[in-house]
Amino acid sequence: MEKKLIWHDAIYTRTSRRTYTGEPLEPDHLHALNQSISNINEESGLNFKLLKDSRQFFTKYKTSYGMFKNVQTVIALVGDPQKVADLEVQVGYYGEFLMLECVSRNLGTCWIGGTYDKKAMEADLNLDAGEKLVAVIIVGPVDSSKSLTEKLVSRIGKNKQTFEQLLQEKTEPIPSWVQSGIEAARLAPSAVNGKPIAYTYLNEMLTARITKTKYGMESLDLGISLAHFELGALKEGVTGKWISKDSEYTFKI
Ligand SMILES: Cc1cc2nc3c(=O)[nH]c(=O)nc-3n(C[C@H](O)[C@H](O)[C@H](O)COP(=O)(O)O)c2cc1C
Repeated sequence: MEKKLIWHDAIYTRTSRRTYTGEPLEPDHLHALNQSISNINEESGLNFKLLKDSRQFFTKYKTSYGMFKNVQTVIALVGDPQKVADLEVQVGYYGEFLMLECVSRNLGTCWIGGTYDKKAMEADLNLDAGEKLVAVIIVGPVDSSKSLTEKLVSRIGKNKQTFEQLLQEKTEPIPSWVQSGIEAARLAPSAVNGKPIAYTYLNEMLTARITKTKYGMESLDLGISLAHFELGALKEGVTGKWISKDSEYTFKI
């Protein structure tokens, strides 16, 4: 899958949205997202699916921290752990590129790991044996400014790590691609804004790892962070591949 520089721009405008207009996606967005989903599924072995009308999976969560309004379209992030190694990390990684594609199309988005009716959605999806519904991404038209409720809920997402909190150990000088990658990773969303990821740049090796486990979604958070870092590096003209070893991910350029 070709990574796009407009996704890097989208990192700087993305914020979780919870109040949607309730309008369906326009046909050209629908077509493009279905195309992106099939490219991702082909490359990764995942089985992401776009569901056009998902209202019924959110009705119970009107008063929870989720507080979603007028949800219509979601992308169900499905995969089989027997077929895809590090399933949650891969779902986070590919899901975030898809989210940034939605943001670059001026659509509102939100990652959802908990506040939806997972059992009902699983039943509706007719999953194959071994397949898991890992999380969902809401996508849809939104007003340009946030509603009052959204502003209140999104307060929890306001604090991002500083550069030094995220890049915990480093050997100077730090190349521009690492600088840009860390800046992009600072803006990565994480479940309940838990910020459980840290990086090191030692002896010209850039490595990411999970630093704390609390909500059970840290592997998703790691995959999301890796996608952001990679786009930051791309902005500086550097491409690479994530190699996983002993629960750490190293960026081989
Ligand atoms: C893996 C993951 C799971 C999430 N699950 C939920 C959820 O179940 N309900 C919800 O309202 N928000 C959920 N969020 C959204 C986070 O609360 C939000 O991304 C975070 O507070 C940072 O805010 P921001 O996205 O505006 O930067 C989730 C985010 C991530 C990355």
